[in-house]
Amino acid sequence: MVAGGAGGIGTATSVRLADEGAAVVVGDLNGDAALEVAARIEKDGGRAIACELDVSDDSSAAAGVRLAIDTFGGLDGLHANAADMSPETIGGDSDILDISLDVFDRTLDVNLRGHVLCTRHALPHLLERGGGALVYTSSAAAFVGEPQRPAYAISKSGLSALVRHIASKWGKSGIRANGVAPGLVLSEAAKASMGDAGDDFIAYALGITRSTRLGDPDDIAAMVAMLCSDDGAWINGQVVSVDGGATLR
Ligand SMILES: NC(=O)c1ccc[n+]([C@@H]2O[C@H](COP(=O)([O-])OP(=O)(O)OC[C@H]3O[C@@H](n4cnc5c(N)ncnc54)[C@H](O)[C@@H]3O)[C@@H](O)[C@H]2O)c1
Repeated sequence: MVAGGAGGIGTATSVRLADEGAAVVVGDLNGDAALEVAARIEKDGGRAIACELDVSDDSSAAAGVRLAIDTFGGLDGLHANAADMSPETIGGDSDILDISLDVFDRTLDVNLRGHVLCTRHALPHLLERGGGALVYTSSAAAFVGEPQRPAYAISKSGLSALVRHIASKWGKSGIRANGVAPGLVLSEAAKASMGDAGDDFIAYALGITRSTRLGDPDDIAAMVAMLCSDDGAWINGQVVSVDGGATLR
C-alpha cells in the first residue's frame, strides 16, 4: 500500500513496486490521480487498485488497509509517503513565530499523525503475517536546519522517532521500519512550493549536491523498493538519505 501514492514520488513508487511484482493499493487524497496511476499499472500488466485516502482521517486510513486485505488477501508493506504540499499549508510554513497554528496543526496532522494512523492499521496485519516492511518518506529537512518550514521539518523529524520506535518494539517480530530522506526532487509539487524563488533554490540545491544532478522520483522509488524487498532484510530503524550527497551525516 502506498499512502500518498499518486503524486511525484508516490507515483514512481507505486509503479516501481508493481514492476517488481507487488500488488499495489494506490491511496491518495487525489482519488482521480490514484485511479490514473492504478490504471497505468494495470495497462502495463501489473496489479493495482486505487482508493481515495485521507491519511489524516482514521476511518479512511482503516479503509485503505482493509481494501488491501479484501482485494489482495493480505498486506506485506506500507509506504507512507503523503505530505500536505499545498500552497495553503507548506506555503504558510514560515517560521515558528509567524506560522498560524492552523498551518502547524495541518502539517503535523498529515505528515506525521497521518503516518501514525496508517501504521496503527497496517502493522497488526504485518504482524499477523509474520513480518513486513514499513517505509516512511522523510526529508533532508529533518536534519539540516532551515530558517523556514519549521512545521514540515518537525513532522519529518518525528518520523525518525517513529521508525526507531517500531524497529525497537517489533523488529524481533519480523517488522522492519525505515525512512527515506530525499533531497530536492523536482516533482510538480516541489516546483510549485518553491514559487518565485525556484530558480535560485534549484541552483543552491545543485551546488550543495555532491552528485551531478538533482533528484528524480525514480531515485526515491528505487530505495523504497529495496527497503521493501529481501535485499533490505537487515536494514531496520534507519532513515536513509537519498539526496546525491546533499547532506552528509
Ligand atoms: N519533492 C521533493 O523535493 C521532496 C524532498 C524531500 C521529501 N519529500 C517528500 O516526499 C513525499 C512526496 O513528495 P512529492 O514531491 O512527490 O509531492 P506530491 O505533492 O506530489 O506528493 C504528495 C502526495 O500526497 C498526497 N496527499 C496529500 N495529503 C494527503 C492526505 N491527507 N492523505 C493522502 N494523501 C495525501 C497528495 O495528493 C500527493 O499525491 C512527501 O512526503 C514529501 O514531503 C519530497
